[in-house]
Order: sequence, then structure tokens, then C-alpha cells
Amino acid sequence: MRLENKKAIVTGGAGGIGRATCLALAAEGADVAVVDLNSEAAEAVAAEIRTAGGTAIAIGADVSQEADIRRVVETVVAEFGTVNVAFNNAGIIRRSTAEEIEVDEWDLVFGVNVRAIYLMCKHVVPIMRAAGGGSIVNTGSGWGLKGGGRALSYCASKGAVVNMTRALAIDHGPDGIRVNSVNPGDVNTGMLRDEARQLGEDTDAFLAEAADRPLRRMGEPREIAQAVVWLASDDSSYVTGSALVVDGGGIA
Ligand SMILES: NC(=O)c1ccc[n+]([C@@H]2O[C@H](COP(=O)([O-])OP(=O)(O)OC[C@H]3O[C@@H](n4cnc5c(N)ncnc54)[C@H](O)[C@@H]3O)[C@@H](O)[C@H]2O)c1
Repeated sequence: MRLENKKAIVTGGAGGIGRATCLALAAEGADVAVVDLNSEAAEAVAAEIRTAGGTAIAIGADVSQEADIRRVVETVVAEFGTVNVAFNNAGIIRRSTAEEIEVDEWDLVFGVNVRAIYLMCKHVVPIMRAAGGGSIVNTGSGWGLKGGGRALSYCASKGAVVNMTRALAIDHGPDGIRVNSVNPGDVNTGMLRDEARQLGEDTDAFLAEAADRPLRRMGEPREIAQAVVWLASDDSSYVTGSALVVDGGGIA
């Protein structure tokens, strides 16, 4: 097992990619803290891991709020002793142009997609430094590397994730803390269905369009999870500041 004795935090751990990653990290031996706004769904994921023989706790939290992030990190240190892996994955999308999006919605997207990563790093870096290093993985998006229509706040926020990952890697590399982004293409989760709803499009047609890429299908959450496991593990020991694209060739 590649992550034995590792202690991991996963935000958005109740959602599609987050849940799959919690299960994959636990399958590699990590103790997992499942963090999500939806505490009931987070508890269900933690219970699934425990039923399979793993170790997991659930923590309800709004990752855009510093008090919540502080509580998450303190709880994990109290329960698990330290933090070796942080997967900053919680994210939201608003399918709107500059004319359409209101300022509070813009701030909400940046709060969850960007500020939360800064807050987690602020509170988890001292713990990882004391532990001799760690791995932070941030969920970007193909739309952090190229533009997309009617998704201004999302594209801007994910571009920020990709570049703040590089800046974090520079700052914390000397402490043995690696920081990378994983950048999915369209993945079969609730978020895609939410997008179809926001755009007022037929869900099946929207999902069919998402499959229009070289591998001719959407991604499955476990396929992103496996990339995160690799970035979390020592198998990627010389990888930091990178933007790993996992998108069936969409960007290509
Ligand atoms: N699904 C895709 O096609 C796709 C593509 C590229 C990137 N992504 C990114 O992957 C990540 C995971 O998305 P997903 O597809 O699994 O979506 P999802 O909607 O299934 O999961 C997102 C999870 O984040 C949680 N969350 C939302 N706001 C939160 C907050 N303030 N505090 C704590 N938790 C919060 C939700 O409750 C949910 O469980 C996101 O960052 C998303 O932008 C997804």
C-alpha cells in the first residue's frame, strides 16, 4: 500500500471526485478526514471507508471560512496526530458571463474555489513542516488552462488555482512540501448535471457533448482519484508545481 500511516484531508469529500478520492486514499492505507459542507453525506463516505476496514472521520465545514478550516485542521491533528496529505477539491461553478453574474455569486465562487485553498495552506503548512513534509493537491480544471463560454468566474478561479499551486510549490518546497494541481476534464459527477440545469440544456445532450474528446467519453471520478493518489504518494516524490491534466485528451 502506497499511503500507509499517512493522514489525509479531502475537501468536497462527499462529492463525485472527492468521494472517489477518499475511497482510493483509504484503499492505499491512508486515514482520511472527509470534509464537506454536506456533513451527512460526508459521514456516509466516512462510514463506507470504516465498513471496508479503513479509518475515516467526517467533518462538516464551509471551506471558504477561516474558522471552519482552523477547526478542520485542529480536529484532524487531534484525531490522527498530523496531516501528510491535503486534497483541496471542494468547488462550485456558476455558468454565467460578466453581464450575468452578480458580485455576491462571483465572491462565492472565489471563496470556495480559491480562498479555501489559501486558508487550508495557511493552517496545514505548519503541521506538514513539523512532520518533515507533505503533499498538497489542488483541484484545478481544464478551464484553468484554457477558456470556456459562460463560465467567467469559474475559469478565472481555476486559472488562479493553477498558478497559486506554482507559487505555493516555490514557497514550501524547501520544507519538503510538494504542491500540485490535478486538472480534470468533464467528469461524470453532480457538477456536470448542475451545469446542464444552470444553462437550461437537456442533460443527456449536455453529457454527450462532454464526451466529445479524443477518448470519446467523460471521465469517471475514480480516474481523477488515481491521479491524486499518485500525487499524494512518494511515487511522485520529484513532482511539485505541476499542473497534471486528466481529461481524456480534451486540452490536447
Ligand atoms: N466534474 C467535472 O467535470 C469537473 C471538471 C473539472 C474540475 N472539476 C472540479 O472538481 C472538484 C470536485 O467537483 P465534482 O465534480 O466532484 O463536483 P461535486 O458537486 O460532485 O462535488 C463538490 C463537493 O464540494 C462540496 N462543497 C461545495 N461548496 C463547499 C464549501 N463551501 N465547503 C465545503 N464543501 C463544499 C459539495 O457539497 C460537494 O460535495 C471541483 O473543484 C470542480 O471544480 C470538476
